[in-house]
Amino acid sequence: MKVLVTGGTGYIGSHTVVELQHAGYDVVIIDNLYNSTIDVLDRIEEICNKRPAFYKIELCNKTQLNDFFEQEKDINAVIHFAAFLQVNESVQEPLKYYENNLLSQINLLNCMIENNIENFVFSSSCTVYGNPDSLPVDENAPIKKAESPYGNTKQMGEEILEHTCKSKNISAISLRYFNPIGAHPSAKIGEVQHGTPHHLVPYITETAFGKRTQLNVFGSDYNTPDGTCVRDYIHVIDVANAHIAAVERLSKQTKKNKYEFFNIGTGIGYSVLDMIHAFEKATGIKINYALVDRRHGDVEAVYANTTLANNELGWTTKYTIEDMLKSAWTWEQALAKNSN
Ligand code: UD1
Repeated sequence: MKVLVTGGTGYIGSHTVVELQHAGYDVVIIDNLYNSTIDVLDRIEEICNKRPAFYKIELCNKTQLNDFFEQEKDINAVIHFAAFLQVNESVQEPLKYYENNLLSQINLLNCMIENNIENFVFSSSCTVYGNPDSLPVDENAPIKKAESPYGNTKQMGEEILEHTCKSKNISAISLRYFNPIGAHPSAKIGEVQHGTPHHLVPYITETAFGKRTQLNVFGSDYNTPDGTCVRDYIHVIDVANAHIAAVERLSKQTKKNKYEFFNIGTGIGYSVLDMIHAFEKATGIKINYALVDRRHGDVEAVYANTTLANNELGWTTKYTIEDMLKSAWTWEQALAKNSN
């Protein structure tokens, strides 16, 4: 089976390409290298002994995309990662986000319909739940008004799929990721930061490395056990494997509905302080941190009920928080070595 992975040289995309190839799939990547570099293909080849096909294409350019589907005739499924993903930037540049994230998805779906490709897997996010009314949050929880244009592109992306699946020959699964962290154990691929990290774990590893002098913990007066925000951190390889389970479900047509969505988390909530202490325990390195004001737009606590994904996708997580943080640390060190 041949799978098209858009954004396949990015963070979650590259890990998914590796797992797909390990599972025997042929992979073809489309990426515009906006947020990644071409050498990720070499790293994937080193890990898998197999190089995925690669096209540097703008998904917003329908002509380029038509040409691609002319050349690659036998694609069975599409996994769509390619998107802009900085929450702050999306607030400053809403149209950039709406145009890129929505048009790319619409172009892809139109090409799939024109080329009789039925199966679509979408990168969604737990951000669709906002501040959930009850925890752990399951898929029946209401969708809350998005706090940012980025979050809204995920909600709208899901709606586009729901409506398209109703009237066209498309079946789709949205995977609502919680907080993917960590890196491949080979330390050949991982999350690359451009400037100051916004996410917690890269900030922790950069502080441990000495690139940052202090980690600011945003808010310590939340209604949580230790006052800091709670999240469901999940190893990026577990997230990658959820995509393979989704592609298998689509191709075996074991789906109950043409459009489905699943929570992709571990089901365990960790606070920011839990994460700092777990990192210190896993690596033996102390983190210099300070409790500071809340960050605007943060939700207090969110973690997943994963029963539906476990039962329907036949997928479970394998990695512990220690595995996640150790691999994130090994990756940080490898990044520094490679940049020397
Ligand atoms: C963020 C995005 C969310 C997006 C998700 C996945 C925001 C407000 N939310 O989620 O929309 O879907 O990434 O890409 O950007 N923290 C610190 N200090 C730091 C960094 C983070 O205390 O330097 C805290 C945060 O306040 C939060 C937790 O760590 O409580 C996790 O933060 P982060 O890694 O940015 O993820 P989310 O906020 O969950």
